[in-house]
Amino acid sequence: MAGKILIAGGSGFIGSTIASALWKAERDVAVLSRHPNDARARLAGIEIDYVRGDVREPKSLSKALKGIETIISCVQFPNHPVENPRKGYTYEKIDGEGTRNLVEAAREAGGVKRFIYLSGAGVRQGRPRLAHEPWFRAKLMAEHAVIESGVAYTIFRPSWVYGRDDRSLNRFVDFARTMPFVPVIGDGDNRVQPLFIMDLVRYVIAAIDSPRARNRIYELGGPETLSMNEIVRTILKTLGKDKRIVHHPKWFMKLASLPMQALKAPPLSPQAIEFITMEELVDNREALADLELPLTRLADALATYLTPVPGGP
Ligand SMILES: NC(=O)c1ccc[n+]([C@@H]2O[C@H](COP(=O)([O-])OP(=O)(O)OC[C@H]3O[C@@H](n4cnc5c(N)ncnc54)[C@H](OP(=O)(O)O)[C@@H]3O)[C@@H](O)[C@H]2O)c1
Repeated sequence: MAGKILIAGGSGFIGSTIASALWKAERDVAVLSRHPNDARARLAGIEIDYVRGDVREPKSLSKALKGIETIISCVQFPNHPVENPRKGYTYEKIDGEGTRNLVEAAREAGGVKRFIYLSGAGVRQGRPRLAHEPWFRAKLMAEHAVIESGVAYTIFRPSWVYGRDDRSLNRFVDFARTMPFVPVIGDGDNRVQPLFIMDLVRYVIAAIDSPRARNRIYELGGPETLSMNEIVRTILKTLGKDKRIVHHPKWFMKLASLPMQALKAPPLSPQAIEFITMEELVDNREALADLELPLTRLADALATYLTPVPGGP
């Protein structure tokens, strides 16, 4: 069994769920955060170490990495996917250069036996380097740093991850609960393989000690390929609601998002609209073959945390 595990980004959606599962499994865990007291408050009751570190500050990382055997990196810039270049909250600065700093600190620390990195669906060598794809460039930069570090690694490229505490699928749940219709950007035909957070967490934890997962890259999505329209219909069905889906053209939403850029944390931007409507399918075969864990269908996963609204549609 591996020694101490540090979760960078352990206060976020995926990182906090991993931290909580590892704590329940009685593993020795620490969370790295820019604001460790806030992270401790967010994970109330999870008695683990909370250490300060910022992937933009290499010095803060070497201190946090003392005695660490496994790093799980779940860092991404605040208010993702809406970049804020003025504050340095961009794919390049945080996901790309930040991960490179963390990898370098892991290499220097000496005792790190496994670096687990959460990349993203669609990341691969040889993609056309389009201006609107900074996420692929940054994740590829991060993956290269991990692979070339000399530290044993496992990279996951997850599809869209959802669960009780996500900030993306839950928007549609809120729309379905509170609005007369559910708005969807584009025609809703773009396909996704929604991945239940608890499945991802089991895969990541299995990879910590698995010799088979050493120096491997796994694409990982849910067991079904669904269009956005099918996903929204599944949410409505789980909630016991019968509402219309209203499609807003992408160009219109991009235009509508422009004035939002004056807000402190804009909910959308033209680039973020490209990100959330892209279709990037993954191939689960290698992850399934090596780690042999089941994947949960969307309707079954939603039923574990969404309850039908009393009084019907
Ligand atoms: N969610 C998805 O659907 C999805 C899909 C595919 C891949 N992924 C990947 O999975 C990872 C985790 O995603 P998530 O949705 O859990 O993200 P999230 O909820 O936005 O959490 C991001 C984390 O990054 C940390 N962070 C931000 N800036 C930092 C900095 N300068 N130094 C150190 N930590 C910093 C934040 O911690 P503090 O604020 O406490 O510092 C926070 O815990 C990301 O790499 C993402 O690209 C996510």
